[in-house]
Amino acid sequence: MNKAYTTQYGSQIIGDSLEVLKTYPDSSIDLVMTSPPFALIRKKEYGNEDQSEYIDWLMQFGRLVYDKLKPTGSFVLDLGGAYKSGLPVRSLYNFRVPIEFCDKIGFYLAEDFYWYNPSKLPSPIEWVNKKKIRVKDAVNNVWWFSKTPYPKADVTKVLAPYSDRMKKLLESPEDYYTPKERPSGHNISLNFTDNGGSIPPNLLQIPNSESNSGYLTNCKKAGLNGHPARFPAQLPEFFIKYLTDKDDLVVDIFGGSNTTGSVAETLKRRWISIELDPSYAAISAFRFLPKSLSEKDLLNVYYSILAGNEIRVMDFLLNGREVPSTTKDYIKAEKSKLEKISKLSKLEKSKLQVLDKAISIFF
Ligand SMILES: C[S@@+](CC[C@H](N)C(=O)[O-])C[C@H]1O[C@@H](n2cnc3c(N)ncnc32)[C@H](O)[C@@H]1O
Repeated sequence: MNKAYTTQYGSQIIGDSLEVLKTYPDSSIDLVMTSPPFALIRKKEYGNEDQSEYIDWLMQFGRLVYDKLKPTGSFVLDLGGAYKSGLPVRSLYNFRVPIEFCDKIGFYLAEDFYWYNPSKLPSPIEWVNKKKIRVKDAVNNVWWFSKTPYPKADVTKVLAPYSDRMKKLLESPEDYYTPKERPSGHNISLNFTDNGGSIPPNLLQIPNSESNSGYLTNCKKAGLNGHPARFPAQLPEFFIKYLTDKDDLVVDIFGGSNTTGSVAETLKRRWISIELDPSYAAISAFRFLPKSLSEKDLLNVYYSILAGNEIRVMDFLLNGREVPSTTKDYIKAEKSKLEKISKLSKLEKSKLQVLDKAISIFF
């Protein structure tokens, strides 16, 4: 376990969150906002636990998170659904998670949210595109767990903009509305008050179509691949605003590209992101670096982190941009390791390409 980088409000840790979380005091975290590796049938690049063991695996994290959350704290878990292997029927794992978390750990399900991603591509190809017997799966479960029935929450911080019709109603109710009793028995009068926005529903419509972010621009410039399973910034943004205040502590236990930390930084919340894969953790530093940074500076940050040097982002930007000798030694050692392999995989080939580029720039 070591620190990859620190910013004004937070730190990115490289390590297994089961180990890292244990080092934090109990009842110290305000919000854990995360998206675990999903129990998909087709294994993703970043690895998955076997579907049948998935719940047990996730429960270990759930138990630790429970201990580390403040009594007012929340645990928001974004979970995608999955099909059973080879069959056009769904796995129930994403529904078992809240049942097990509440029955066995003691969490409450404060509310169930649904993230609808309109830009999701049709899948699985076999059932949706080829056989045409299932529609596209475009909604994730986002389970909001709490330690008590009254976690900190303030809807007024996440009000949705009023529709045009509602704005007109607020301006001159008598022109747009005739009071009458609804079939439900609700009697809506003409007394509309402007609350600054409408109460959002538990269906969050957010396209996952980031294409020109600083993160992706910097990845491209450095010749490195962005994380393959990022959630859109608006997802953690909604819950961080809704469930925390300035200076509260937000943690992502499956950090990936550190979307959560970068949103928390903007919203002035303290944050910790924990990521097992050193390369993903190192690349996530690009979220905090300007698009104008040179290829040399980006590769310096990336390899310095991988070499075990902690980057202090503000310090790096304001002062030193020298490539440390430990970073140069690391690059040479990694290259010679790869050169000893007789048949390189696709991933190893691309690693070697970036190492060669760094060598040509740094030496
Ligand atoms: C779905 S991705 C998270 C993506 C993230 N929400 C984002 O927007 O970039 C899950 C991440 O969890 C990481 N991971 C898996 N097991 C872990 C563990 N035990 N501790 C920390 N990270 C882990 C994987 O390497 C992967 O990057």
